[in-house]
Amino acid sequence: MSIKVNCLNPIAACGLDMLDDNYEITENIPEAEAILVRSAVMHDMELSDNLLAVARAGAGVNNIPLEKCADKGIVVFNTPGANANGVKELVVASLLLAARDITGGIQWCKDNRDNADISKDAEKAKKAYAGTEIKGKKLGIIGLGAIGVLVANAANRLGMDVYGCDPYLSVEHALNMSRDVTMVKTNEELYEMCDYLTVHVPLLDSTKGMFNKAAFDKMKDGVVILNFSRDTLVNEGDMKAALDSGKVGKYVVDFPNPTTVNMPNTIVTPHLGASTQESEDNCAKMAVHQIRDFLENGNIKNSVNYPNCDAGICSAARRITITHKNVPNMLSRFTSLVSKDSINIENMVSKSRGDYAYTILDTSDSTDEIVEELKKIDSVIRVRVIK
Ligand code: MLT
Repeated sequence: MSIKVNCLNPIAACGLDMLDDNYEITENIPEAEAILVRSAVMHDMELSDNLLAVARAGAGVNNIPLEKCADKGIVVFNTPGANANGVKELVVASLLLAARDITGGIQWCKDNRDNADISKDAEKAKKAYAGTEIKGKKLGIIGLGAIGVLVANAANRLGMDVYGCDPYLSVEHALNMSRDVTMVKTNEELYEMCDYLTVHVPLLDSTKGMFNKAAFDKMKDGVVILNFSRDTLVNEGDMKAALDSGKVGKYVVDFPNPTTVNMPNTIVTPHLGASTQESEDNCAKMAVHQIRDFLENGNIKNSVNYPNCDAGICSAARRITITHKNVPNMLSRFTSLVSKDSINIENMVSKSRGDYAYTILDTSDSTDEIVEELKKIDSVIRVRVIK
């Protein structure tokens, strides 16, 4: 019987092509074992008992109820880094759009399309669209994940003086970052010295509204702020006041809403950061690859609500995977139950993350009875027999 996958949003064909004959795309959401999603909001969706995995073809996961999924043993994946270059390129373009009145100049040419003297008049008109250069200006980057690091390196190569802040900077991202980037310990240090600030952090309770009056008050007058992460990282009432007073010189935001599109000195794009063929392809392929590895081998890579847990391809006779609560004595209960009929555990990987944990057991044999007993253990959420 084929494995049913639902696409809540259109997903790039090269990703869907990676689903072989064992898979079937279904429109019937309750029968889906996996959901592929881009920006569809899943918070009010009924999560059926068939659903094992959700993969977001993108980085942000604020459209997915992570806790509710974890509680039902549904593993949620994202695709970190897969669209980072697309976002980085738009951030670089936006630094230039903010520094020079390129959009105003283009509009002037359009408005003068019937003017026979446009060449001559342009030489007079152009002073209204003059700008500044980004070379030598201080750029502060909040969040040095896959996107932040690419932005840091690109801005550094464009001659900007780049500063970064990220208390969770990974070794991998640190190794990929130019040594010319100066790390600071707090966002406040960036606020005080930078001409440009760009934010690349996820939307969490702790980051929501982080750009507010208190933060603006610490920034340089006329600072340019770029937001390609999520609109609600910014307190828009405070941002409007800061733009009105000139405290913030320009706001470039990739999230149109009735407030942002009506703000002064604001350049708004329609969530175009990752809208490139390459990013969409990369995200789709990574999402499908991760879903397949999870459904077929039980391995978890790039989950945002369960720990990463990889036991490779199973060479033992049986593989059982268990999503469970991260509480004491789970492993001893699993192992004593599985081994009571002299069944050998050939390989075991168990990882935890916050309140949840995941265990992969490769065994010489198993019985339906053992699987049913495992399901009955308190704090076990879901048991799957992979083979
Ligand atoms: C992301 O979260 O990866 C970006 O905002 C792009 C997208 O949502 O498609």
